[in-house]
Amino acid sequence: MKAERSKVTIGVCGGIAAYKSVELVRLLQDAGYDPHVVMTAAAEEFVRPLTFAAISGHKVITSLWSEEAGTGSVEEDPTGEHSSVEHIQAAQSTRLLVVAPATANMLAKFAHGLADDFLSTMYLATTAPVIVAPAMNVKMWEHPAMQANVATLRARGVKVIEPGSGYLACGMVGGGRLAEPTAIVAAVTEILAETSSDEQGEGRDFGGETVMVTAGGTREAIDPVRYIGNRSSGRMGYAVAEAARRRGARVVLISAPTGLACPAGVERVDVVSAEEMRTAVLARLGEASVVVMAAAVSDYRVKTVATQKMKREGSPAVSLELESTADILREVVARRAAGTLVVGFAAETEDVVANGRAKLQRKGVDAVVVNDVSKDGIGFDSERNAGSFLTKDTAIELPVQSKAKMSERILDEVLKLRVGALR
Ligand code: CTP
Repeated sequence: MKAERSKVTIGVCGGIAAYKSVELVRLLQDAGYDPHVVMTAAAEEFVRPLTFAAISGHKVITSLWSEEAGTGSVEEDPTGEHSSVEHIQAAQSTRLLVVAPATANMLAKFAHGLADDFLSTMYLATTAPVIVAPAMNVKMWEHPAMQANVATLRARGVKVIEPGSGYLACGMVGGGRLAEPTAIVAAVTEILAETSSDEQGEGRDFGGETVMVTAGGTREAIDPVRYIGNRSSGRMGYAVAEAARRRGARVVLISAPTGLACPAGVERVDVVSAEEMRTAVLARLGEASVVVMAAAVSDYRVKTVATQKMKREGSPAVSLELESTADILREVVARRAAGTLVVGFAAETEDVVANGRAKLQRKGVDAVVVNDVSKDGIGFDSERNAGSFLTKDTAIELPVQSKAKMSERILDEVLKLRVGALR
């Protein structure tokens, strides 16, 4: 359910598509939101601040500096001048920041943390969800530098509304057109619906916690093009990350390769091999109050990785010598700070509960989510899962359900441990 007249901030950058932001502001008002506009200096070359001020009924912010700020204002500034921390106030009071059109320059600034104007400064200062709707020449959009910046932002939980295809102002045809304002409003509504229960104080039981989640299946190189992998899709870990974020936690998701989009508001760290995952997990362990290790980590890696692609010719059969990878979960348990809860996952194909319990003891974790991966339709590479949540004294059955629902159950149980634990 959408809250009444939520404040949303529209960041408008300089581009031909800036005129479409006028319609966006109107549509957001129609949808019941209270849009406020921030413009870059370049945006003013395309649309006058007065247009946005008149439509939104609010002062339009155009600069970090007070003497220039508020151009086109139709709203009284009670102090008569703008505070030097206006960007902080704006960043804190908005429920969402949507940048449309987002230029290549602004996306690069966001990706690298530059803060030389109001919008880029506000981006750094806000903890609200961020949506960007890029618009630019197709070649600029496709440039590897641009795509790397977009990937960085996605990994940080920024929602990117892909530009559409069609005629571009530069005369070319292709991707790079600003998404339709209706599509941008739909994304705003979707994200705010997800967070609205949080704002109303419901389901914020993970507020103040930092949850680190591992997800996906690691890949161990054989040669430059081949690897040893496993069937993990990453869905279970991503579902836990998303649920924890929705319930108010700060979430760090250490992810092996998956085809999944980073959940909004979650910080993702991409890794490939077990060793990379180990390094990333241990580097961030100090921040975590809860660790959920849902990744399928390879137990072995190739001892000597071939530097060149291995050739079939002259090698009718090959043997790969494997060596053990580090047990990340064990290291986490050994190095965690007092009070940090650690939940492991156990994929078993036989004697599921007994093996799960043995693993719980062996690894010294607070709980193990054990699932039977021998059954079709649940567990690995599927939408649903089932299993048991084991602690040293309890075994809670988790019946077949979506991974999203199962995540909620797991977090419910984690919370009980948190409340019950006096370390
Ligand atoms: N795990 C880990 N590091 C590894 C292997 C596993 O951190 N090198 C973690 C997994 O993320 C999971 C738990 O340990 O949370 C159990 O993984 P699983 O593969 O079931 O256990 P193993 O220790 O590998 O035991 P086995 O394969 O013998 O069942």
